[in-house]
Amino acid sequence: MKSIREELERRRKQALLGGGQERIDKQHQEGKLTARERIDLLFDTGSFVELDRFVTHRCADFGMEKRKFYGDGVVTGYGKVAGRTAFVFSQDFTVLGGSLGMAFANKICKVMDLALKTGAPLIGFNDSGGARIQEGVESLAGYAQIFLRNSLASGVIPQISAIMGPCAGGAVYSPAITDFILMSEGTSCLHITGPQVIKAVLQEETTPEGEPITSQVLGGAKVHMEKSGVAHFAGGSDEDTVRIIRELLQFLPQNNREQPPVVPCSDRPDRMDEALKTAVPEDPRQPYDIRRVILPCVDEGRFLEVQKDFARNIVVGLARFNGMPVGVVANQPAWLSGALDPDASVKAARFVRFCDCFNIPLVSFVDVPGFFPGIDMEARGIIRHGAKLLYAYCEATVPKVTVITRKGYGGAYDVMSSKHIRGDINYCYPTTEIAVMGAAGAVNIIFREEIRKAKDPEAAQKKLVAEYQEKFCSPYKAAELGYVDEIIEPEETRPKVIAALDLLKTKKDTNPWRKHGNIPL
Ligand code: HXC
Repeated sequence: MKSIREELERRRKQALLGGGQERIDKQHQEGKLTARERIDLLFDTGSFVELDRFVTHRCADFGMEKRKFYGDGVVTGYGKVAGRTAFVFSQDFTVLGGSLGMAFANKICKVMDLALKTGAPLIGFNDSGGARIQEGVESLAGYAQIFLRNSLASGVIPQISAIMGPCAGGAVYSPAITDFILMSEGTSCLHITGPQVIKAVLQEETTPEGEPITSQVLGGAKVHMEKSGVAHFAGGSDEDTVRIIRELLQFLPQNNREQPPVVPCSDRPDRMDEALKTAVPEDPRQPYDIRRVILPCVDEGRFLEVQKDFARNIVVGLARFNGMPVGVVANQPAWLSGALDPDASVKAARFVRFCDCFNIPLVSFVDVPGFFPGIDMEARGIIRHGAKLLYAYCEATVPKVTVITRKGYGGAYDVMSSKHIRGDINYCYPTTEIAVMGAAGAVNIIFREEIRKAKDPEAAQKKLVAEYQEKFCSPYKAAELGYVDEIIEPEETRPKVIAALDLLKTKKDTNPWRKHGNIPL
């Protein structure tokens, strides 16, 4: 009996050491935590339960029968995050480079299946050399099993991918399907082709800017936060990345059949912030940071911005109103005048769909001069991409509250959660202008002849602009038609949005039956 206990203890100790102390030290020297340290930080103390600790691979090729490690290079299980269950897999780079073979993949699939059956979020820590070369096609099969589960679980349970080391080749597609990707700055990379392949196959030694090609240059956090839009958050260290995951989970329901968690709120729901009186400049052409409107409105000024460095002409993120989680979507007049371009449309569309999947109400702050005009925009497919945001807002059945802070011009006005596409409660500030386009542009088109023939064309143009402005560049026409429900003072925004969300708590809306829609991808 004693020897069985001793053997169990020996195996446990061995499993906890992963690929050995030397490799753990190397991991630390590189500024990375180990697979188990990441799990410890993620879960409430003592809540983690490990599964499949003693699984090993069954590969006998290339000397692999002598290279077996308990757990096979991935730690899996479940635990509590702020008291709620979540499932995890954490790839262990110290064991065979965290490479994925069939036993490894089966362990991940087991927690994915459990997460789906029990309706709890799944978090994956990725730190791996990719497909285990010695296992050949079985590794590819293993990846495919994971991709399938990622796709089937999409919109059912929240899926979060943390990139904590290398994640390359086809392996990137599991994170890519999940809801959120986080990256640790400086130590993680996410790319299809590595530097060696680029150099060998494409015969390129440097980037067009002359920088040497490295993993970081190809797919570090900076690239994916600023340029590609692949990553949603970047942590300054592994600890910081895990902290963001915990914060993110606080806003989310466990699955698509639950409501997001409402927490007690110490910020008064009737609080009116004086700063809002001057947040929006009167001059419609003057830029301002829309976060100056968002932050004073939300509980304690706390706003978890998503994809904050990508497509900065639109701001998206999670916040609370009187304890209720909401998704905020806001045009950003401080960047490209807040016009919608392909990147901004796709960024916001994906966020709107995420919120709709998980019953998170949408609060939209609108100040939009239109879709971004230009030859380049047309060629880049502003039609195809803009349609995604329109489609996403149209199909969303969660409570939709809209606040127009200044401009609602053209098709972009329709897109941004307007009344016409099932916006539930639509407010606007008194300085709002809702029109097909700005007055000067409009007058130059419809009164071109009159202006040309006038004795004083400049004076005529001015007069016509003033007339047009009075008629259409105000909120009154829209208010008369019921296209906005109420004209509110900026400082009333918080209480008004809270009242609307409270009213909409029991909202029920559906879409026609279909297998699935055909969003213009
Ligand atoms: C088996 C692997 C491995 C792999 C690393 N190792 N990657 N073993 N299969 N894919 C092993 C190494 O042999 C080494 O073992 C240990 O892990 C640590 O690796 P190092 O190279 O010493 O670490 P480092 O210098 O930090 O470099 C990390 C790395 C590099 C950049 C990830 O290991 C690397 O380039 N690996 C190969 C990556 C790759 O080409 N993977 C397959 C790509 S195809 P020992 O015992 O010698 O220390 C793919 C697509 C998936 O993944 C397709 C899905 C559809």
